[in-house]
Amino acid sequence: MDLQDKLNRPLRDLRISVTDRCNFRCPYCMPAEIFNERYRFLPKPHLLTFEEITRLTRIIVRLGAVKARLTGGEPLLRQDVEKLVEMLAALKGVDDLAMTTNAYLLPQKIDALKAAGLKRLTISLDTLDDEVFRQMNGERSAVDKVLEGIFAAEEAGFTPLKINAVAQRGVNDHTLVELARFFKERGHILRFIEYMDVGNMNGWKMEQVVPAAEIVALINAEMPLEPIAGNYYGEVARRYRYADGEGEIGLISSVTQPFCGACTRMRLSPEGQIFTCLFAIEGTSLRDPLRAGASDAELEAIIRATWGERIDRYSEIRSSLTQEVRDRRQKVEMYHIGG
Ligand code: GTP
Ligand code: 5AD
Ligand code: SF4
Ligand code: SF4
Repeated sequence: MDLQDKLNRPLRDLRISVTDRCNFRCPYCMPAEIFNERYRFLPKPHLLTFEEITRLTRIIVRLGAVKARLTGGEPLLRQDVEKLVEMLAALKGVDDLAMTTNAYLLPQKIDALKAAGLKRLTISLDTLDDEVFRQMNGERSAVDKVLEGIFAAEEAGFTPLKINAVAQRGVNDHTLVELARFFKERGHILRFIEYMDVGNMNGWKMEQVVPAAEIVALINAEMPLEPIAGNYYGEVARRYRYADGEGEIGLISSVTQPFCGACTRMRLSPEGQIFTCLFAIEGTSLRDPLRAGASDAELEAIIRATWGERIDRYSEIRSSLTQEVRDRRQKVEMYHIGG
């Protein structure tokens, strides 16, 4: 029988974070005051090698995962990441191979990624307003740099793209309709993400969340929308299509309408720990047993046991926790497990 967790959820997606580094400093993820020149990122020997990632992925795919997504930090900062793409693309059972990136380095990497067998790309872009965008990435990039990445991806045939935009009250909420219009016209799927309390560093407050229902209403007022069914079991985004038949958007409403009931995602960190929730407190190391000489069967047993004991449903219980309990919970950081 297929592997299932304590809440009967199968394992379907593997999110692989290949580095904890990023060339942006989005305040909601890696605030520049903390991630400054003194911050110690993981030293190279601590990172899983491509061979190690591929071996673990092969085992996890045997346990049910059909989808692999590379994340970071910023995955394009991992040297020769296209080699890893090629190794994963060659694995039997990986039906879908995708990457989530900020696109800054995409123009120089896109051909190699395509040739290596990457199937899909998701690009993060929170606004088209340059001043707002600079504020949202810690002054590391202009909008144009990301657009160049998007155009390069279009040319290489990665269409439609998915574009992720985090919505933050008082920061970019006045620019969301413009963003929707732009990507509707270019034929890409824009997904709005509710700002989440990932990790403990971003100082998240409920008042900063723009509820998905409000975003739908904002856009619907200008460009009428209608809800449509999901693409697959466990999809995080709720889908809407434009009533004129031209395109769709998605809402990732993990704060106001959590989707833990169908959460099929396992996350592998750069140094080889598996996490069973984006809001997990700790992970389970696969690297240590792996480097101590564990066999595939032994690694598989650890993964089975970890998933078999899984009871995570943080987003569903978030609102029942007091601010104090939430603040005390030492969660893994977003840049570490890639969202
Ligand atoms: P598709 O394969 O195209 O459906 O992509 P995806 O939605 O699985 O991947 P993507 O990286 O684009 O996910 C979008 C964002 O949704 C992530 O970056 C997270 O911010 C958020 N997200 C994804 N999975 C989860 C989850 O399990 N829990 C929560 N709370 N948020 C998630
Ligand atoms: N809340 C919501 N989304 C976030 N992301 C990073 N941090 C947060 C947060 N605190 C988004 C990024 C990217 C994706 C990987 O997750 O903007 O699109
Ligand atoms: Fe980097 Fe993405 Fe985090 Fe921004 S959200 S700092 S681009 S990893
Ligand atoms: Fe899955 Fe945890 Fe997100 Fe719920 S909060 S959907 S269990 S990752």
